[in-house]
Amino acid sequence: MKAILIPEFQSDPSTLRPSVVPTPTPQPDEILVRITHCSPQHADILHAQGKHQNNNAKRGWCFPPFVLGYDFAGDVQSAPTSSKGRLKKGDRVFGAAIGAFAEYICVKESAIRRVPNELSNETACAMSGQAVSYAAVVNIAKVKSGETVMVSGASGGLGSVCCMVAKALGARVIALAGDAAKAESMRRNMDVDLVVVMEGDWIKQVMDFTNGQGVDAVLDNTGLVNGALRCLAYFGRIVVLGFAARKGVMEEVKMNKLLLKSATVVGYRFGESGRRYSGELERIWDGYLGMLKTGQLKPMLYGKYDGLEDVGRALKDLADRKVYGKLVVTVADIQETARL
Ligand SMILES: NC(=O)c1ccc[n+]([C@@H]2O[C@H](COP(=O)([O-])OP(=O)(O)OC[C@H]3O[C@@H](n4cnc5c(N)ncnc54)[C@H](OP(=O)(O)O)[C@@H]3O)[C@@H](O)[C@H]2O)c1
Repeated sequence: MKAILIPEFQSDPSTLRPSVVPTPTPQPDEILVRITHCSPQHADILHAQGKHQNNNAKRGWCFPPFVLGYDFAGDVQSAPTSSKGRLKKGDRVFGAAIGAFAEYICVKESAIRRVPNELSNETACAMSGQAVSYAAVVNIAKVKSGETVMVSGASGGLGSVCCMVAKALGARVIALAGDAAKAESMRRNMDVDLVVVMEGDWIKQVMDFTNGQGVDAVLDNTGLVNGALRCLAYFGRIVVLGFAARKGVMEEVKMNKLLLKSATVVGYRFGESGRRYSGELERIWDGYLGMLKTGQLKPMLYGKYDGLEDVGRALKDLADRKVYGKLVVTVADIQETARL
């Protein structure tokens, strides 16, 4: 099969091209999936460069030689009898596992879910990584109708879905953008109430929009707690989701800033939370997929990427911060009959 193999760490993942490697053979407890779509993200760049915490020689994760990629959708080729008939050949599935930039992947059942009938594989693939946004807005920030919510990294995979979920709950949404050109695209393509470019007097723009009250909740995908505190209403909440803009250098926050506004600042680690609280994880997926099935959330797809040959270009567009929403690479042509 074709796959994006990392024989050794690559400083420039844009040069990656598919190689021919053996098609994987499933272990007795594994499912073989033919991949129809994959969705490159920033973590894939770090994985390829050897700069991610997952690059673990001892555990053998993401350590050369390995096949790159994480989010995917596809169809089941073979399933073990231990899957108790839950999944069978031909079922459409989506999920996340290292090795997704390939024509086939072997995964444990826990790594994948069935694609709901209403959704295409492309939509499922584009949205597979963002249940975290749903959970952060609904369960952690506990956003209510009528509140004002600010989202940093709003053009990104997590940020764009944070905006959509907050809007679906009836909140007013302020989306933060890195530059004016991106902000223009966001104004055209996103259903938000205000797009603010993070330059000059951006905090004043947020305060003016909220009549000086500040925002009720912030979903922080970039590492912006100090900025968020300055925009926050009294008793406001900040959910720390990621540090996309920090280049590995974490912020220092003066604790009196929290006290002065009776602020709540809470971190949220979706993967670990799901591993510890599986019942809650199922409720999150039900809620998230429910919003997707009813069309309250729609993927924001950037560009067009055909075949594993386009993975390098996709990674370059991500690295150049051109992308808003999600990239999806079509790996195999299938007839998409789903509505959404
Ligand atoms: N907490 C969790 O469980 C969890 C789960 C998955 C991911 N994450 C983390 O959440 C963060 C967002 O993930 P994502 O998938 O939404 O990423 P993404 O799609 O790459 O989006 C990140 C956004 O941040 C902005 N940004 C600002 N400075 C940046 C920089 N130097 N490089 C790249 N982007 C920059 C970009 O928007 P502008 O260009 O408009 O500024 C971009 O759209 C990441 O740090 C990721 O590791 C957390």
